[in-house]
Amino acid sequence: MVCSMEFPALKNDRLLRAARGEAVDRVPVWVMRQAGRYLPEFRELRQKHDFFTICRTPELAAEITLQPVRRFDLDAAIIFSDILVVPQALGMVVEMRAGVGPMLPAPLVEPGDLGRLVTPVDVRAQLGYVARAITLVRHRLEGRVPLVGFSGAPWTLMAYMVEGGGSKTQSRAKAWLYRHPEASARLLGLLTDVVVDYLVMQAEAGAQLLQVFESNAEYLGPDTFREFALPCIRQVSERVRAGLAQRGLPPVPMTIFAKGAHYALQELAGSGYEVVGLDWTVDPGVARAAVGPGVTLQGNLDPCALYAPVESVRERGAALVRSFGRQRYIANLGHGMYPDMDPASVQALVEGVHGA
Ligand code: CP3
Repeated sequence: MVCSMEFPALKNDRLLRAARGEAVDRVPVWVMRQAGRYLPEFRELRQKHDFFTICRTPELAAEITLQPVRRFDLDAAIIFSDILVVPQALGMVVEMRAGVGPMLPAPLVEPGDLGRLVTPVDVRAQLGYVARAITLVRHRLEGRVPLVGFSGAPWTLMAYMVEGGGSKTQSRAKAWLYRHPEASARLLGLLTDVVVDYLVMQAEAGAQLLQVFESNAEYLGPDTFREFALPCIRQVSERVRAGLAQRGLPPVPMTIFAKGAHYALQELAGSGYEVVGLDWTVDPGVARAAVGPGVTLQGNLDPCALYAPVESVRERGAALVRSFGRQRYIANLGHGMYPDMDPASVQALVEGVHGA
């Protein structure tokens, strides 16, 4: 295992420049779930190994992280892992079921179940494999593009831990917010502590930008988001910055992607992140007006637009740049790739953005 922290010099820093609001020669583009089942080389490796075994084996996680970067002219790599490694670190069992998605067979049913969580979490002991994968990828990338680290945001993690998996309504997790507001705040606080340590560890290991996924924001409304999710999102950015400074480490730009939080764009822009990610339901002009000139926007092509013929995908890539502008913008999808998508569509999107 390579463990030197002297990394190869970065040759393409468009993503980081755009995140910091600096001028770029071309708009950077990457794609959520760019490493995944739509790639035949991913499916081949995945047939041989269980999902979380891949996450826990730096050699395998590194290989999958690099797969899309080898194929396409992307401007970022994202470490192969999953947001649900955090509930695992808290002692919960998480399984990845083919065709179903994540399953937590013993979810948190009532506040007393918080006693089952193993706290405090020593992230280096429990999640050190993610740090080792990040360091390995930084070497293997040879400075081609920056490496993005990530975590789920506390509310999204709580929702999985209470629901026991995906849900159309999130009614069990939301019931906690209304029925057990204090226990919910306790759980969210405990998750915030872990997420902060986890992200600091990732930056220390070599992650050059940190993205926080609040994928379940869409189930909340302005009031519940403001009361439960947003304070954690704020704390994560503030405490990660403080944690890096305390260790004498350079700051890294941070992105908040709160899917479905069109009702909170202004607050998200003021929550301490350089980049605000957008899902495809938000109009670029409306988003820019809401967030102001001081943050970078990321997004937001409807993932299903990738089902169009490649010429059309290329044109939509160029159209993103026309709508969002060339500065303070990172092109991406409004959510992730689906397994039945054609890899050629990613190439077309990249060409469309870069050619604009
Ligand atoms: O390429 C990348 O984006 C990096 C890897 C990555 C995965 N999951 C791999 C994965 C990232 C960044 C995630 C984040 C993640 N995981 C989120 C936040 C982003 C989002 O999608 O909103 C969430 C909510 C999860 C939880 C999760 N993991 C779900 C809901 C699923 C099932 C989705 C599905 O399409 O079946 C997963 C599984 C998962 N995570 C897969 C991959 C490649 C597919 C599982 C498999 O190979 O069997």
